[in-house]
Amino acid sequence: MKLVAGNSNRALAEAISGYLKVPLSACLVRRFADQEIFVEIQENIRGEDLFIIQSTSYPANDNLMELLILIDAARRSSARRITAVVPYFGYARQDRKTSARTPISAKLVANLITRAGADRVLTLDLHAGQIQGFFDIPTDNLFSVPVMVRDIEDHNDIGNAMVISPDVGGVVRARLLASRIDAPLAIVDKRRERPGESEVMNIIGDVEGRDCILFDDIVDSGGTLCNAAEVLHERGAKSVRAYITHGVLSGGAVARVAASRLRELVITDSIEPNAAVLASPNIRVLTIAPLIGEAISRTAHEKSVSSLFD
Ligand code: R5P
Repeated sequence: MKLVAGNSNRALAEAISGYLKVPLSACLVRRFADQEIFVEIQENIRGEDLFIIQSTSYPANDNLMELLILIDAARRSSARRITAVVPYFGYARQDRKTSARTPISAKLVANLITRAGADRVLTLDLHAGQIQGFFDIPTDNLFSVPVMVRDIEDHNDIGNAMVISPDVGGVVRARLLASRIDAPLAIVDKRRERPGESEVMNIIGDVEGRDCILFDDIVDSGGTLCNAAEVLHERGAKSVRAYITHGVLSGGAVARVAASRLRELVITDSIEPNAAVLASPNIRVLTIAPLIGEAISRTAHEKSVSSLFD
């Protein structure tokens, strides 16, 4: 097996390499003056089982292009099998037509990765499980749940836990966590009664006196979480934390989270945390390197990946 890393999340790639005890293959990724990307894999990969690690996070288009060019270089260098390891799969939220004459960009990105020459894809907490079907190559969608459960169990101040899905679309994901920690489930139901009127938030479930755990795949502007934390407190929640896989945290999200009623936001390193995230008083980062490393090892040795989540 050989590992190659793009530039989107070197720290995670190095941690995965440490877990597997396989060094990252020498690979040059640089820009021409006009910002075109050039890559050169600087060791022989002919006949190798190659894993290319690259999240398509901010700047999404540059990191996606870098991934595609790395796959192309690997294919032209006769790697035996190429797995695109994409811990954060950007564009996933554009997975359906939301109105007339709009694209399905998640499908386009899946096509690009496949046509570039990937044989498999390994990713984490896809925005919607059905996105696996956008790829006509084997796609393993890992879950961060075991990592989150371990952390929740280590925090014995979360006594009277209740898992909260921040929207109706996330119920299946939240139910999985609730069943793993043996906690009840509540749902935030956001709706705009009439166009132009502000959104009304209802909570389906009784959160009074509960240590609430909001569970979701993405925190972007932080608006969904901060508003939910406010409403949960209004309904009598004792504390509100959030466990979110992908910390997109764009714009003023870090400041918004710091000023919110969230006791803590726990994210993973699927996207490399920037300095503001690392300095934040109420954001903590868990690593998913061992989980991804183990899934890579099992893929290379043709062992079950799904049994990681039994
Ligand atoms: C939406 O369906 C996602 O699961 C997240 O809830 C959403 O992307 C969060 O966005 P924001 O942090 O901007 O509210």
